[in-house]
Amino acid sequence: MTSQKLLLGIDVSTTGAKALLIDEVGRVVSSATTPLTLFTPRPLWSEQDPREWWAGVTQSIRQALAQAGLTGSAILAIGLTGQMHGLVLLDGQGDVLRPAILWNDQRTGPQCDEIRSRLGKERLIQITGNDALTGFTAPKLLWVQQNEPEIYAQGRHVLLPKDYIRFMLTGEYAMDKADGSGTILFDLSQRTWSQEILAALSIPSEWVPPTYEGPEVTGTISPQAAAETGLLPGTPVVGGAGDQAAQAVGVGAVQPGIIALTLGTSGVVFATTEAPLIEPQGRLHAFCHALPAHWHFMGVMLSAAGSLQWYRDTLAPEVDFADLVAEAKNVSPGSEGLLFLPYLTGERTPYPDPLARAAWVGLTVRHERAHLTRAVLEGVAFGIKDSFTLIQQAGLGAISQVRVSGGGAKSPLWQQIMADVLDVELVTVNTTEGAAFGAALLAGVGAGIFTSVPAACEATIHLTGRVQPSPARTAYRDFYPRYRALYPALVSEFRTMAGVVSQRLGAGKTQ
Ligand code: XUL
Repeated sequence: MTSQKLLLGIDVSTTGAKALLIDEVGRVVSSATTPLTLFTPRPLWSEQDPREWWAGVTQSIRQALAQAGLTGSAILAIGLTGQMHGLVLLDGQGDVLRPAILWNDQRTGPQCDEIRSRLGKERLIQITGNDALTGFTAPKLLWVQQNEPEIYAQGRHVLLPKDYIRFMLTGEYAMDKADGSGTILFDLSQRTWSQEILAALSIPSEWVPPTYEGPEVTGTISPQAAAETGLLPGTPVVGGAGDQAAQAVGVGAVQPGIIALTLGTSGVVFATTEAPLIEPQGRLHAFCHALPAHWHFMGVMLSAAGSLQWYRDTLAPEVDFADLVAEAKNVSPGSEGLLFLPYLTGERTPYPDPLARAAWVGLTVRHERAHLTRAVLEGVAFGIKDSFTLIQQAGLGAISQVRVSGGGAKSPLWQQIMADVLDVELVTVNTTEGAAFGAALLAGVGAGIFTSVPAACEATIHLTGRVQPSPARTAYRDFYPRYRALYPALVSEFRTMAGVVSQRLGAGKTQ
């Protein structure tokens, strides 16, 4: 039986638009996801049509309600989450001016350089907590300004992906502070737009919307949106958060010392802070948390479970993942001197370097497939440790617990390797609905079901497993410095090789 006090979490990710209904103790009532199309019209470009997001969201909401046999009147409040950093540019009527430029679009290298030179890298990091990276929103806006001036001239509103859905649901232009800080147009410590940065990039300050804390109500369902979705007009919509902050809420990582580690295609290390701490060189992302008056550090490894996926698809496509990983169990920690550098798609943390490349180093004839597999699992764990090291150097106190989630977290061997390499207890939790679950909890706080975000986590999330570091951790203390030495030793070769490859491909040489 379902209670009538339901919460709706909506997640607009790059792959799908999801609607998740939960009750006030966190039980999943129903969930529906509509797949979305990704466009890559040119190399390095990554775009989606915001109108397809809206169509997907309306379909998923209707489906989730129908599955549960409910109408919109069962829903108390709605929380939004979604892919961060994407640029949605609207005209004065709220119409979409061009496809959204997404978080994984890489076209803005020159604009990142320009932002650094206009503000000075140090000042940029001082204000926003972050260096200019191609993934972030500000360089995308500058790209439109410089490359599509006729479109830019019609611009009046800048939104992030989930905030376009908010606009369609409520008619309000608004954004939450966690996602807002990922634009790098934000003053991290003030939790609001930086007039200095907007001015330096010639972006009119009226284009950016008011920002709210994650659980704050930003508007209510409009009659038009009610007709399209089946929701009740007047249902409150809270600020919500970008997917990473919402994911952290969804696993209960809402206090310093409790780290959320998400092992999806990418690997994300998320650490709550009570002050706007920054990593002075901008090697970590520093954003506002969905938890009011809190911030967080974030390290992003681009190919985490993605490394294992590539390895299996390319070198052992006939083998089941579980069988492949099981072989690696009998190999000793350190894979008998074989190391894997996991930069298959370049890297963000600790090296913001699109030209970084992957490698196995130390191969001998003694190494078998099981060693290659184990080296991949260990290399990803070492890469994750890099983020932990930076977070601790940047002033976070002791790490007491790591809450692991995502597809890669399902492997017991990988969990054990992570616990050993990181030398910390790893735990799993009951919730598996990720960011959408966190968004629904934020809605519950906004609706007054829970007194605070930590109270919402306390009421709905509990531990389901614990993995303690084993004696293998001492071996990793020896191998980690060897891993650390690899990128500095290889970086100039990666650059030279990228030049050679692009020259040869550019010249159409095949031999
Ligand atoms: C975070 C990031 C990704 C996107 C896509 O910085 O770029 O997590 O939000 O999900």
